[in-house]
Amino acid sequence: MTHFLDIHTTPAADLHDIIRNGRAIKDARQGLPKGAPDADQPLANHMVALIFEKPSTRTRVSFDVGVRQMGGQTMVLSGNDMQLGHGETIADTARVLSRYVDMIMIRTFEEQTLLEMAEYATVPVINGLTNRTHPCQIMADIMTFEEHRGPIKGKKVVWSGDGNNVFASFAHAAKQFDFELVFTGPEPLDPEPALAGLYTTVRDPNEAVKGADLVVTDTWVSMHDPQSARERRHNQLRGYQVNDALMAKANDDALFMHCLPAHRDDEATSSVMDGPHSVIFDEAENRLHAQKAVMRYCLGK
Ligand code: CP
Ligand code: NVA
Repeated sequence: MTHFLDIHTTPAADLHDIIRNGRAIKDARQGLPKGAPDADQPLANHMVALIFEKPSTRTRVSFDVGVRQMGGQTMVLSGNDMQLGHGETIADTARVLSRYVDMIMIRTFEEQTLLEMAEYATVPVINGLTNRTHPCQIMADIMTFEEHRGPIKGKKVVWSGDGNNVFASFAHAAKQFDFELVFTGPEPLDPEPALAGLYTTVRDPNEAVKGADLVVTDTWVSMHDPQSARERRHNQLRGYQVNDALMAKANDDALFMHCLPAHRDDEATSSVMDGPHSVIFDEAENRLHAQKAVMRYCLGK
């Protein structure tokens, strides 16, 4: 069984293959309307369950469109509407769903839910974000960087802001794709200790971004963070906003990424998001292509 649970638990050679395949899948569709089928139909006769215990625009739509382009069918399920949200165990849910569908993508809160789903499912399980990681996003981000700038190996990536789940997958990717990762953010919002050794910390954002090939940020309040922490987080993170002055200190050809959804003029200014360094909508598009490669990998197709 080939699941796609995280970047650090997927062999590096397979990750590189997925990126290469994502690009080929994208190239093969140039000029086709979004609803047109791919030339090959690797998911013909396949049913895929997309489970969401948190909101989503990109993950939901990109997986749904991707499955359909590959000839498969989807069902989008909200955790709350399932018995899963009303006390049925994850193990039982996994075993039942495996009798109906050929693959499961789940976005959930606790990582343990994902891991239990994978343990008990008899079909591949894909991580569509947990409180701890967001591997599909970072596969799209690597694909996007390489599309614009060539191999990410040896490049300097600077994360400015909250040491959150998206950062964690960047940290896993830094090892697997062999790039330098610098975290700049306030100490209380440091990445979790398990990630130590995968990145270095530079507290001053102006120092951190020097020589950066890529500057990345994300929302200051994630879906799993309590709303009561909003004001405190904003106060802690204000100095780490990605604005024109900060981008000017990175390399001239530095790219800017944000997984979206963004809170414009909080973590990044609109001038950066819509400016010449920004590739945010390429990242969003590449979710589709990279995840199609992930799904093919999981199904061995
Ligand atoms: N970036 C991302 O995963 O977006 P959604 O929350 O809209 O899926
Ligand atoms: N860190 C954000 C990412 C959203 C795609 C969150 O978990 O809410």
